[in-house]
Amino acid sequence: MNNMVDSKPENHRPVTSLSNLEFVFLALPIVCVVTYVVLESLLFVYRYLYLIFAVTVLKVLWGEYSTELRGGNRRCVNTVSLSGKTVVMTGGTTGTGRAAAYHLACRGARIILGCRNLKRAEAVVQELRKGSGNNNIFHHKLDLLSFKSIREFADKLRRDEEEIDILINNACISDFSSHDNQKIPHFTVDGLTHSFQVNYWGHFLLTNLLLKLMVKSTPSRIINVTSRLHMKPQSMNFDVGSGKMLYPRLTGYPLGKLANVLFTRELALRLEGSGVKVYAVDPGLTFWKGRNFQDWKAKMMLPFLWLIMSSEDAASQTTVFCATEKGLQNGEVYFDCRPSKYVNYLVNDVILREKLWDTSLEVTQLSIRRNGKTTVS
Ligand SMILES: NC(=O)c1ccc[n+]([C@@H]2O[C@H](COP(=O)([O-])OP(=O)(O)OC[C@H]3O[C@@H](n4cnc5c(N)ncnc54)[C@H](OP(=O)(O)O)[C@@H]3O)[C@@H](O)[C@H]2O)c1
Repeated sequence: MNNMVDSKPENHRPVTSLSNLEFVFLALPIVCVVTYVVLESLLFVYRYLYLIFAVTVLKVLWGEYSTELRGGNRRCVNTVSLSGKTVVMTGGTTGTGRAAAYHLACRGARIILGCRNLKRAEAVVQELRKGSGNNNIFHHKLDLLSFKSIREFADKLRRDEEEIDILINNACISDFSSHDNQKIPHFTVDGLTHSFQVNYWGHFLLTNLLLKLMVKSTPSRIINVTSRLHMKPQSMNFDVGSGKMLYPRLTGYPLGKLANVLFTRELALRLEGSGVKVYAVDPGLTFWKGRNFQDWKAKMMLPFLWLIMSSEDAASQTTVFCATEKGLQNGEVYFDCRPSKYVNYLVNDVILREKLWDTSLEVTQLSIRRNGKTTVS
């Protein structure tokens, strides 16, 4: 037994174990890869956090402003039924007008859309009927670029309708879609600039032609859809122009939208006590679906605009609010389902309002002078 030799060699080590050098060679790449992955991950998280931080800061900074600029967040929450009420709306084929028409139809209103493109109008009417389950939606021909067409539209309504409870002057053309900015001035058949005729003169004429019916239908409401851009102009230039081109300086979207607000305030005062209330609506910045931009610069802005704009549905809420809510302030501008903070100071200029009113009567050939007094024909 004593002779027994310890069979375990002194420096025995398992065949699988590594020498220090081998270990270093093998471990080093692993450590490098792990370190790289950890560092990359940290960098990724850092970048990600940086991004989150940047977005949060932007959102906080932009938050209040964007709410104010866009359609706001509020929805029209009243449940007022419009069953038995007739709504006439211009420009209900696209955008916020179509969205508002849908909501008013859901409340049971009989809706008549004034549209220039009858094919598109027919498709929209079918779509609205299907979506709202209300078959009382119709369209008639109306081209605001022609006073003749406006008179024909109003004549048809005066002949066919017993009452008009709500008139929504919503149609518009933007400066991007109008011809006013082109090098060769392009005037309407009535000799006026495109944007001002659609955005203001046309609605002034239509409203006045329907006034008697609206007074008969009291309590009734007139809603003029304006824009925050009405804040931009600081004055109005009533330069008459020459030849067949009338009022060439009354042009551009912001000025037309200011005219809407001046008209709203003036009409509200003139109709005080009649039972017809007049409101202006600022729907906020809205993304346009399928709008026909003629200007490539506008087309390039679309992706950016998409980021900051609200939906047509959200933007339609203040129009629905002004069409249905009780206790609103006559002659006021509404935004985000409440009185707007953003109203051009010029709206308080009585002389300007009267000047615009008298010029509008003259331009639309509504005025008849009897014994020095202007009345509406
Ligand atoms: N979108 C916004 O960001 C924004 C911001 C502030 C205010 N608003 C105001 O909100 C209202 C609706 O704007 P929106 O963006 O929804 O408009 P939109 O999508 O461009 O729709 C304009 C509507 O007006 C109609 N129209 C244009 N020219 C006409 C004419 N000569 N005769 C009859 N109808 C005509 C169009 O009819 P067709 O189908 O024939 O083209 C269309 O139905 C406008 O008063 C606008 O000033 C809009």
